[in-house]
Amino acid sequence: MVKINQISLPDFPLLLAPMEDVSDPPFRVVCKANGADLVYTEFISSEGLIRDAIKCRKKLDIFDEERPTGIQIFGGDEERMAMAAKIVDVTQPELLDINFGCPVKGIVAKGAGSGVLKDIQLMTRLTEACVKSTSLPVTVKTRLGWDDATKNIEEVAERLQDIGVKALTIHGRTRCQMYKGEADWSLIAKVKNNPRIHIPIFGNGDIDSPQKALEYKERYGVDGIMIGRAAIGYPWIFREVHHYINTGEMLPAPTVAERVEVCKQHLQKSLQWKGPHGGIYSMRRHYLNYLKGLPGIKEFRTRLVTLNDPEEINGVLDEVLRAYEGYEMERTPIHLVNYHENCPL
Ligand SMILES: Cc1cc2nc3c(=O)[nH]c(=O)nc-3n(C[C@H](O)[C@H](O)[C@H](O)COP(=O)(O)O)c2cc1C
Repeated sequence: MVKINQISLPDFPLLLAPMEDVSDPPFRVVCKANGADLVYTEFISSEGLIRDAIKCRKKLDIFDEERPTGIQIFGGDEERMAMAAKIVDVTQPELLDINFGCPVKGIVAKGAGSGVLKDIQLMTRLTEACVKSTSLPVTVKTRLGWDDATKNIEEVAERLQDIGVKALTIHGRTRCQMYKGEADWSLIAKVKNNPRIHIPIFGNGDIDSPQKALEYKERYGVDGIMIGRAAIGYPWIFREVHHYINTGEMLPAPTVAERVEVCKQHLQKSLQWKGPHGGIYSMRRHYLNYLKGLPGIKEFRTRLVTLNDPEEINGVLDEVLRAYEGYEMERTPIHLVNYHENCPL
């Protein structure tokens, strides 16, 4: 069992990564139902929370079914971070996570996200401010360092633990790497093997298959793994990894019935969270992901993304079920998108 303060997680827990515009409550519910042990919100601006920006406050919502949930915040000012931590405390997630890893330019320029990697004193002060102003356990997610010349994660880990951080997730890239190259887990392993470190250390970066998860578990000895991109459109990755680690066998690919069921569940949660208009709209980008690989699915997808009535959408999903009854889907390799190429960062 892995413990983050009072939160008990199973052996070798799998964490859903915080992902902007992806890790919203409906998606987190779906990932939790398919084997994620701990889920995180996307990063939330401390400034936005303080100004009560409706969009930011909405990001604090948590469904009971997804718990345990960590709310992630970012910011570059101690007082503002302390205030934001207090606001988060009121909404009662299981933990508060601080983002010291985000490479987005606008955020780094304000001294937040991975910009803090250049200034350990500031990182320490920001973290301390949060730890002191919340009763929640505080965790941190960060990268190896700023660039190849300053991979300071070993020192950072000790400092954060000393201040009272209860777990650390490390993405095996530097800020300057953005998403380029391969994540390097060898420094993550060094942090884990430091005899001074006793908090859980979670590895993150490029896990896209159960085989790779087991290989990295054994090679780097981390306490658990955080998965991001591989879960987008494929929440089954969590149960597949758990099963493979426990039995050495691959689970069969999710059936058409399971895919349709997850679509319906995701839609229902989106409606519940965002209301009829927002719920239907935000669901549109998910259908093809869930149903990818079914020959001729585009015709159904076109209907799914143009309909506005939940009953009609569920009707089309039932048609999909009937049309592909008995169709055996193969598990195709997951393709990790390089978000650096796709985002204007
Ligand atoms: C679309 C997208 C949005 C992201 N948003 C956040 C975020 O809000 N906070 C954060 O700490 N990391 C964010 N990340 C980074 C991921 O949490 C994770 O560290 C990274 O994708 C590497 O893991 P992976 O290879 O399993 O995807 C984001 C990544 C993606 C792809």
